[in-house]
Amino acid sequence: MARVICIANQKGGVGKTTTAVNLAASLALQQHPTLVVDLDPQANATSGLGARAQTGSRTVYDVIMGESTVEQAVRTVEPAGLHLLAADRDLVGAELELVSALAREFRLSEALKAVRERYEVILIDCPPSLGLLTVNGLTSADAVIVPLQCEYFALEGLSALMDTIGLIKQRLNPSLAVAGILLTMFDTRNSLSHQVVDEVRAHFPDQVFNTVIPRNVRLSESPSHGLPVSLYDPASRGAQAYSDLARELMGTGSADKERAVSAATETAEAKTDEEEEREHGSA
Ligand SMILES: Nc1ncnc2c1ncn2[C@@H]1O[C@H](COP(=O)(O)OP(=O)(O)O)[C@@H](O)[C@H]1O
Ligand SMILES: [Mg+2]
Repeated sequence: MARVICIANQKGGVGKTTTAVNLAASLALQQHPTLVVDLDPQANATSGLGARAQTGSRTVYDVIMGESTVEQAVRTVEPAGLHLLAADRDLVGAELELVSALAREFRLSEALKAVRERYEVILIDCPPSLGLLTVNGLTSADAVIVPLQCEYFALEGLSALMDTIGLIKQRLNPSLAVAGILLTMFDTRNSLSHQVVDEVRAHFPDQVFNTVIPRNVRLSESPSHGLPVSLYDPASRGAQAYSDLARELMGTGSADKERAVSAATETAEAKTDEEEEREHGSA
């Protein structure tokens, strides 16, 4: 029975999609059959996994509107063991069309029931808002991963998100839990990054993943090649970090806090983005 994990934060650009794509690929590479649900009309997870909107192919929009089952709409993507429920621009309409629909908050949750036996993990990539699509993601989920960018206003908006999660838990999905806060785009050379890590851990003891995702140029390049970083550049720090996160999530590896930050720091010092770039040529 799959564990359904929603990746949510109403702020854009914090690393939701990067996490959905790369955590999913790492899980699949570690032999955990995984489904990615792209719930953002921008469809960045879809293109990041090398899938394109094809005329006639079904998407998460059709599933939410009750016009397709999940089985009919899923596609296989690389690496082996990874499936995708793709999005396209039509999804913009769903937010409006659902307003008057019956059981509008449970459309995705109901649809996913039929495939929960097939996967170990289902990862849902949410749009940057707290609208009806994100609510559908949260009612479907057992747990939420909240990516936070290691920058000055990291904690801003977090209380609104935590309130929403609390409300959903109270009213719509009592079993919803916070899987953890994930610190992203950690830059070892920036003292602010270190401050943010300390501050977030002080605010939310025991709720922050030990694994910290470094800022890494490979992570920002790989989507334009339609590949997760673990296939685009398996040796990169970004690939290593998401592979560590997959192990931490599945409880198959230990990453203690101090080690995790110092690992991000050490590898960062050993190899800067510029050096990685030079090494690999301009890919
Ligand atoms: N750890 C990282 N290192 C470098 N670039 C990153 C990293 N995480 C995300 N990015 C880049 O930052 C931008 C926003 O990330 P994205 O995952 O799309 O955020 P969101 O889905 O929350 O809007 C993208 O261009 C992405 O490639
Ligand atoms: Mg996104």
